[in-house]
Amino acid sequence: MSDIAARLTAALGADVVTTDIPERNHHDWSGLPPVAPLALIRPRETEQVATALRLCHESGTPVVPQGGLTGISGGAHPVAGAVALSLERMNRVLSVDPQTATLTAEAGCVLQTAQEAAQEAGLLLAVDLGARGSCTIGGVIATNAGGNQVLRYGMARDHVLGLEAVLADGTVLNSMNTMIKNNAGLDLKQLFIGTEGVMGVVTKAVLRLQPRPTHSATAFCGCDDTAAVLALLARARAGLGPALISFEVMWPSFYDFMRAGIDATHPLSGRHGAYVIIEAGGFDDGLQTRLETCLADAMEAGALKDAVLAASAREERALWAVREAVAEYGRILGPLTAFDVGVPLARMAEAVARLEAGIAARWPDARALSYGHMGDSNLHLVVNVPKAGQDQPAAAIKSFVYGVIRDLGGTISAEHGIGAIKRDYLGYSRTEAEIGAMRRLKSALDPRGILNPGKGFAP
Ligand code: FAD
Ligand code: LAC
Ligand code: ZN
Repeated sequence: MSDIAARLTAALGADVVTTDIPERNHHDWSGLPPVAPLALIRPRETEQVATALRLCHESGTPVVPQGGLTGISGGAHPVAGAVALSLERMNRVLSVDPQTATLTAEAGCVLQTAQEAAQEAGLLLAVDLGARGSCTIGGVIATNAGGNQVLRYGMARDHVLGLEAVLADGTVLNSMNTMIKNNAGLDLKQLFIGTEGVMGVVTKAVLRLQPRPTHSATAFCGCDDTAAVLALLARARAGLGPALISFEVMWPSFYDFMRAGIDATHPLSGRHGAYVIIEAGGFDDGLQTRLETCLADAMEAGALKDAVLAASAREERALWAVREAVAEYGRILGPLTAFDVGVPLARMAEAVARLEAGIAARWPDARALSYGHMGDSNLHLVVNVPKAGQDQPAAAIKSFVYGVIRDLGGTISAEHGIGAIKRDYLGYSRTEAEIGAMRRLKSALDPRGILNPGKGFAP
């Protein structure tokens, strides 16, 4: 046992610290090769997180924070010589307060558990993503996760009212604000949101809840091309206003391949140039009619070729089936290089066309699947080169894709973060001065650089 593992065990006990590391803690969803951490720390309370970090700070031992390990950028992926600090045992919903419409949870609480607790109180935790059954509140906050309802409710950041975090030296910052307005000095919680565990370890959070829509309406639409999808988006925004919750686009490269992969029925009869799921949620009986009117107008204007509306909650889920099949990429597609780029909407058509054509030209047998949260200017592209097997040409694919994105004035990460796999490209989306300022802040809070080194913007 290493020196630091022995010291951690002496301070926290063998219940909390182990060197017999379960397989799940050897990797996240990035596809990077598994790595065994030096030791695994699984605290049950904030004080134990503080003790662990203090000891690691004193000895200069690197620490990789881990939540549900569903991150796609490698932020929680272990690094040789580092200890893993998993929040998996700090997994409780601590309270739901209907008066302030807030939910307080420990960082290791699974997102779906928190969603269900809010629902039981008649409220809505409006952060939702495909990994809801495994990802944690801490991971969602640390990645500033997006998902399928950002258009209406915003990113994870918009749902965090307060949090508790432990700094690298073990200092506990209690910023458990529950008020919507609080301008008393620097809003410290922002330092930990979307910073991938490099600034501190989130241990608790106060999340803002929403009224639960009483009515919903979902349509599956077929459009001729990306330009038509943009026209449909403009109409959906105007026609549905704040009732527009999701606007998810799937190009045929994604839809046809994934539909075959899960053997789902096509809700429309013909083939189209792009498919859109529109989900609306609101508080009046007229919602379904409003969506129908919006679609009829779009059809008359040529923005839409065909559409079906779900008649029940079961049909609503069925319309999402192919979109939600991303959780099965491993089985359906195999090893992949995944992107979560952002593209200014006006360049979206060009982006999809250039990326798919460029990949086909470079790797003729490649599958390049395009889909995304288009209402948020967020395009996902997932690439698999079957001939390459486990040795996917990830570096060459990334270099091509990020080059196009830089040309188009986009961002290399709209929602998954930089993690370990996009570090070489951070300069495509941020200036040297910006990266320098991020690192100055990092070094002020973590002078020895123990928290998640080599991840995100951390040196
Ligand atoms: P982990 O993977 O464990 O960690 C992610 C990062 O956060 C790492 O850098 C880690 O060090 C850090 N971290 C974790 N916990 C803490 C903590 N308590 N304190 C400080 N740092 C911490 N993402 C989206 O944005 N939108 C989507 O639509 C979406 N869909 C997904 C669908 C599927 C099927 C999958 C597998 C993933 C998807 N993701 C999506 C990516 C991922 O689920 C999210 O980013 C999620 O927020 C990660 O949470 P986690 O608990 O699994 O974090
Ligand atoms: C999605 C994830 C991968 O939207 O971000 O499917
Ligand atoms: Zn996404």
